Amino acid sequence: MCGIVGYIGTKNCIPMLIEGLKRLEYRGYDSAGLGFLDENSKPKNIKVKGKVADLENALNGNGHFSNIGIGHTRWATHGIPNQTNAHPHSNKEGTLLLIHNGIIENFGVLKKALINDGYTFYSDTDTEVLVNLIDSNYKKKEDLFQAVRYDLNEVEGTYGIAVFHKDYPDQIIVAKNGSPLVIGIGENENFIASDVNALIAHTSKVVYMEDHEIAVITKNGFKAKTISDEKIKKEIQEVKLTLEEISKGGYEHFMLKEIIEQPESLRNSIRGRLLEKEGISKLGGLSGYIDRIALSKRIIITACGTSWHAGLVGEYMLEQYTNIPVEVEYASEFRYRNPILSPDDTVIFISQSGETLDSLAALKETKRRGALTIGLVNAVGSSIARETDCGVYLHAGPEIGVASTKAFTSQVAVLALVTLLIGRRKITSPQDGMEIIKELKSLPEKVEKILQLNNEIEKIAENFVDADNFLYLGRGYNFPVALEGALKLKEISYIHAEGYPAAEMKHGPIALIDENMPVVFLAPKDSVYDKVVSNIEEVKARGGKLIAIASENDTTIDNLVDYSIKIPSTIRMLMPILNVIPLQLLSYHIAVKKGLNVDQPRNLAKSVTVE
Ligand code: G6P
Repeated sequence: MCGIVGYIGTKNCIPMLIEGLKRLEYRGYDSAGLGFLDENSKPKNIKVKGKVADLENALNGNGHFSNIGIGHTRWATHGIPNQTNAHPHSNKEGTLLLIHNGIIENFGVLKKALINDGYTFYSDTDTEVLVNLIDSNYKKKEDLFQAVRYDLNEVEGTYGIAVFHKDYPDQIIVAKNGSPLVIGIGENENFIASDVNALIAHTSKVVYMEDHEIAVITKNGFKAKTISDEKIKKEIQEVKLTLEEISKGGYEHFMLKEIIEQPESLRNSIRGRLLEKEGISKLGGLSGYIDRIALSKRIIITACGTSWHAGLVGEYMLEQYTNIPVEVEYASEFRYRNPILSPDDTVIFISQSGETLDSLAALKETKRRGALTIGLVNAVGSSIARETDCGVYLHAGPEIGVASTKAFTSQVAVLALVTLLIGRRKITSPQDGMEIIKELKSLPEKVEKILQLNNEIEKIAENFVDADNFLYLGRGYNFPVALEGALKLKEISYIHAEGYPAAEMKHGPIALIDENMPVVFLAPKDSVYDKVVSNIEEVKARGGKLIAIASENDTTIDNLVDYSIKIPSTIRMLMPILNVIPLQLLSYHIAVKKGLNVDQPRNLAKSVTVE
């Protein structure tokens, strides 16, 4: 949510900042801006409504050279997306420029005080309050670093900020609370960004800022402190991410690339983590904690969006194979409802980005209450990965498409590994353990087979481009898949869609069914197959358009439904990984056929770092 980049060094930073912003555009894309000191040390602030490409056009032909600059791509929180509200924001004189990711909650009070002091405001943003507050402190203290530090002690809310002032042409000041910020270390140059994707073209050496930390960055180095003025030592870390991993690699969209990558991402998620003979998993990140986890009286899974759906699958798995009661909570609800937690509880945080603010806040609350925290996170080095007691990386590789695909399948696979680890200490037999391992290992090949249905699914999609509504139905392990299928469609095609437990259809959604209502059934041949078939009959009797995701050996379902997509089978706990793939492809093709931007759907952002 909002992308931040910055550079200080000896080269021209303008093209680098634009390139960095493009890599961060998945975080927000309603407006963009660049602030820099030009060749005459004059501050320039160029902002546009729209995407980074529009900013690039606005800069074209200006021929600026600058070796200090900051850039921002916005996801609006306060104030509509327009040029005025775009970042950087500046003081009246235009000498102090600031970019911000996060929300200043007490901006109203601060703004009033500044207005009383004679300040005027041009935008509707909370960020402009922040820049003027720094301006006011700077004019009193005459030291930029101290002014920013002092200012941040007055601020309530979240921020990742980068600031520079005309009077300090050799420094950028950055600070973090709640929103991610990373410093990239170069030779005679340094970088900043809200995530490492924007840096790796230039350096693999990074320093992650922690909450309440502030740093001054020059071309030769950086100095960090806490905002309460304590000295701190920061560690330089090496990131192992390649440019190839974060590029489209010839695909039309990141989303399609990431769907197609799933055989490989699944292989990476399970690689080296299976002990076949013992029928158990090996998860280095949980070693040292497994006794406590297995003794937990309760497991709570908390997450947002697609990760929450993976958590629901985890609930079914963990209860079936470990006998430990499991609850799944939206992180945003969990953090605000005084959760009853004790050291006997284990709380699992699932997050692709590792930066989702609600999940991070729930994590902090959980730690305060003494429960053990586990992170199942994709982004290496992210806040949730760093702050949980222990964890398992998904190893799905970077996910750029806003609609999550490969992260979901890896989350479910890793939840299966965790289930196996705990289950074998509890109620799962070695034989069942071995069976799970065999099936986990067969997944990549089965996914490859499903991906071969891409053209068939694209043809089916043609029939639903004009649909206004969709219903997704599944039972047991496939109920969360129904939710995920509906979410995928909503996110990128803007078609209203709902996921429901198939049997619950009778208690409401059935009223919506007529010949205009497409209904997607998850109908693998499993123990509830006959019941799902009865639900299909109920929809058919009311004229609904039926699509079934069914088992490849199911020959009877074709007589019941309008379209069937036949896929390989596996054990029930792993079926969500296979069933979700046709649904990802269906949503993708419907959205593309509607001419929509699937990688950057309206109003959404990949990483939601505000409440
Ligand atoms: C946003 C993204 C979703 C994602 C959710 C949770 O809404 O658009 O794709 O599922 O955040 O994100 P996380 O990074 O915590 O998994």
